[in-house]
Amino acid sequence: MKSVLSLALLTGVVAGLPSAGGGYTEEYEYVIIGSVSANLARDGHSVFLIEAGEDKGDTLLQRAPAYADTNSEHPDQSWAFFVGHYQNDTQARRDWKFTYRLNNGSLYYGLDPPDDAEPLGIFYPRGASVGGSSQANAMNFILPPDNNWEYIAELTGDDSWRAQNMRDYFIQLERNLYTNGEEPGHGYNGYISSNMNNISYVLNRPGFVDMVSSSIQETEGIKVESREQMTELLQRDLSRIDTNRYEQGVVFRFPLHINALRERSSARDYVIDTLNSRTSDGTERYPLTLSTNSLATRVLFDTTGDRPKAYGVEYLKGEGLYGADRRYNASQTGELKQVTATREVIVAGGAFNTPQILKLSGVGPREELENLDIPVVKDLPAVGNYMQDNYEGPIVVRAATTFSDGSPYVNCTFDYTNPETDPCFNEWHDSHTGAYGEGGAPIAMLYRSSHSENNDTDLFFFGAPGAVFDGHYPGCSQYQAPPETWFWSMVKMQPGNQAGTIRLRSANPRDVPEIQFNFFEQDGDRDLAAMVEGVEHAMRIFDGVQAPYAPFEIVEPSVPGSGVSVEQGIRDLAFGHHVTSTCRMGPKDAEDYCVDSEFRVNGIDGLRVVDASVFPRTPGAFPVAPTFMISYKAYKLLVAEAAAAK
Ligand SMILES: Cc1cc2nc3c(=O)[nH]c(=O)nc-3n(C[C@H](O)[C@H](O)[C@H](O)COP(=O)(O)OP(=O)(O)OC[C@H]3O[C@@H](n4cnc5c(N)ncnc54)[C@H](O)[C@@H]3O)c2cc1C
Ligand SMILES: *[C@@H]1O[C@H](CO)[C@@H](O)[C@H](O)[C@H]1NC(C)=O
Ligand SMILES: *[C@@H]1O[C@H](CO)[C@@H](O)[C@H](O)[C@H]1NC(C)=O
Ligand SMILES: *[C@@H]1O[C@H](CO)[C@@H](O)[C@H](O)[C@H]1NC(C)=O
Ligand SMILES: *[C@@H]1O[C@H](CO)[C@@H](O)[C@H](O)[C@H]1NC(C)=O
Ligand SMILES: *[C@@H]1O[C@H](CO)[C@@H](O)[C@H](O)[C@H]1NC(C)=O
Ligand SMILES: *[C@@H]1O[C@H](CO)[C@@H](O)[C@H](O)[C@H]1NC(C)=O
Repeated sequence: MKSVLSLALLTGVVAGLPSAGGGYTEEYEYVIIGSVSANLARDGHSVFLIEAGEDKGDTLLQRAPAYADTNSEHPDQSWAFFVGHYQNDTQARRDWKFTYRLNNGSLYYGLDPPDDAEPLGIFYPRGASVGGSSQANAMNFILPPDNNWEYIAELTGDDSWRAQNMRDYFIQLERNLYTNGEEPGHGYNGYISSNMNNISYVLNRPGFVDMVSSSIQETEGIKVESREQMTELLQRDLSRIDTNRYEQGVVFRFPLHINALRERSSARDYVIDTLNSRTSDGTERYPLTLSTNSLATRVLFDTTGDRPKAYGVEYLKGEGLYGADRRYNASQTGELKQVTATREVIVAGGAFNTPQILKLSGVGPREELENLDIPVVKDLPAVGNYMQDNYEGPIVVRAATTFSDGSPYVNCTFDYTNPETDPCFNEWHDSHTGAYGEGGAPIAMLYRSSHSENNDTDLFFFGAPGAVFDGHYPGCSQYQAPPETWFWSMVKMQPGNQAGTIRLRSANPRDVPEIQFNFFEQDGDRDLAAMVEGVEHAMRIFDGVQAPYAPFEIVEPSVPGSGVSVEQGIRDLAFGHHVTSTCRMGPKDAEDYCVDSEFRVNGIDGLRVVDASVFPRTPGAFPVAPTFMISYKAYKLLVAEAAAAK
């Protein structure tokens, strides 16, 4: 399958970088930057995957669900971006998560930095190992509302985006472990396992049961009378087939992408299985090549025809070469290489890096590229614009007593440097049960504010006792919440703001771009008002819980009597980590859109983008399931095209 091609046939070397050594460039049908893709190779197409990080999928940090937070800020598995939420500096620095670099090199977050501290912004981790953020995330796995897909179908005029069709892709990729094996709308033979948190870890905890009872009462008007009734109510499945499933306020358990052994399951495993698969005589079964420690620096174009055509990718081979990598060392420059794609180049570097790669390649807003002396291949203003994210708003209280009764977590240390001294780790290791196989937030809740743009709920809560999730800051994964804590994280669906931007700071592919979300700039009053209603809803739930847990002391979003309104508290503390839409999909060849409904970059041949960058609007409350679905859709499309071309 592989062949070699003399470098002399290739053109151009980016300014400022050493030229490619070796004299040969390898050739594949598809070259894919950043993501995981095994299906094309399984269909017999030669594929070269370029991944900046390494494969860490076998490490305990990635396998054990309980380590998800630790893993998300681990130096050799994730990248540390620092982003802007507001251009208004006063507002930006009201967030205690705002982080600075001190003159001795240490990071500081808080409201009282020394005068000479360098402002960095808000810490925003992204997975940077094989599998990307799906190897570093919290594994919450849920389908978005059907109307999110219908919106894409309407916008592009392409009916293959209809919810019903998208459901088929989900069925094909899912291996559902939490329903009875014959639930319509779920798949049972796919490569991504979905599973549930352990319901007895809710039902065996009196304080947790009280909070769930009050949540159901306030959200649904149902008074829970028995353990059986609560069990039944918590079985409700938000990924079921039902076009109106997001309309009801409802309390339910959160599905996760974990397998039957209570380990993280994701597309990374499928790639590794594909790579390792051998025929009976020991030869590689599939034509898949994975190049790790490889930072794509630009896509190469043939510009001799009417339309530019992508024919390959240039990349730097080396460890920790990107500026967001905590191992970054400017004097280690890596080795420049090239690889050729006979069919297509697919960019899947994630919603921050895909627009950066496109711009470095000459695809983006003309003025920005010209200012940096990057030759313009295609003036495409949508690249790096319209960036979106779900807002998350923290609601944190302290109860009058501990939530530890019945908790499976009481004896756990979660000390990842010394796991074998943790009885909870040993339980998970030996019998695949216990706290290590659980997600961070067992309970979820939908609520409709009066500002929803349709009949759907627009707020998605998840919560837990004895823990806190109030956003990212350096070291956040090691924070131990007092056992009296209860948190809700409130995810704003249908976020109205599309004013986020990603701009190159330089033409150096190792530099991190400037990332500015411009929170609440569009539809901000509406979204803030919706989130204030969400806080009020949570307060009613707390009011419905009796002693010994009540009374509750409110910690976030604003302490009563502090003079900070709930709205201002949300402004100060809102965060996100579901970035999308930096290369948004829309009508074919429309310049305010980046790709067409078949993932093709507008105005260019042989180049597609397949990752969370393409969603024209942030889907639902959690992007990973929809991202897996669009990847599968793209695979089906490519295979069909390749077959037709034969
Ligand atoms: C801490 C955290 C928790 C999250 N929790 C959830 C959750 O519970 N549920 C949910 O649905 N979503 C969650 N998300 C979001 C979700 O995981 C992502 O939205 C999803 O994985 C899609 O990401 P993406 O397409 O932007 O790309 P990513 O998954 O980030 O993948 C990009 C890949 O490209 C590689 N790359 C980037 N640039 C280059 C380059 N120049 N050359 C080579 N390779 C490159 C990166 O190393 C990475 O592997 C979470 C995210 C984070 C960070
Ligand atoms: C900047 O933010 C602060 C704090 O929210 C606010 O008081 C001020 O009015 C803002 N300034 C502008 C110019 O919007
Ligand atoms: C840097 O200074 C801060 C504040 O004085 C201190 O807490 C931190 O430990 C210092 N870091 C190093 C690496 O010396
Ligand atoms: C960075 O790399 C250079 C060259 O290999 C090396 O001399 C230097 O010690 C490294 N710096 C750090 C901080 O590791
Ligand atoms: C915690 O450890 C104690 C002492 O070994 C034991 O009695 C108790 O059952 C453990 N609790 C849990 C929830 O595992
Ligand atoms: C679920 O909880 C029950 C009761 O504590 C326990 O016996 C069982 O092992 C747990 N299952 C898993 C997968 O952790
Ligand atoms: C919302 O619900 C009402 C009443 O059921 C219905 O008439 C209307 O069509 C629905 N609107 C949308 C956008 O689905």
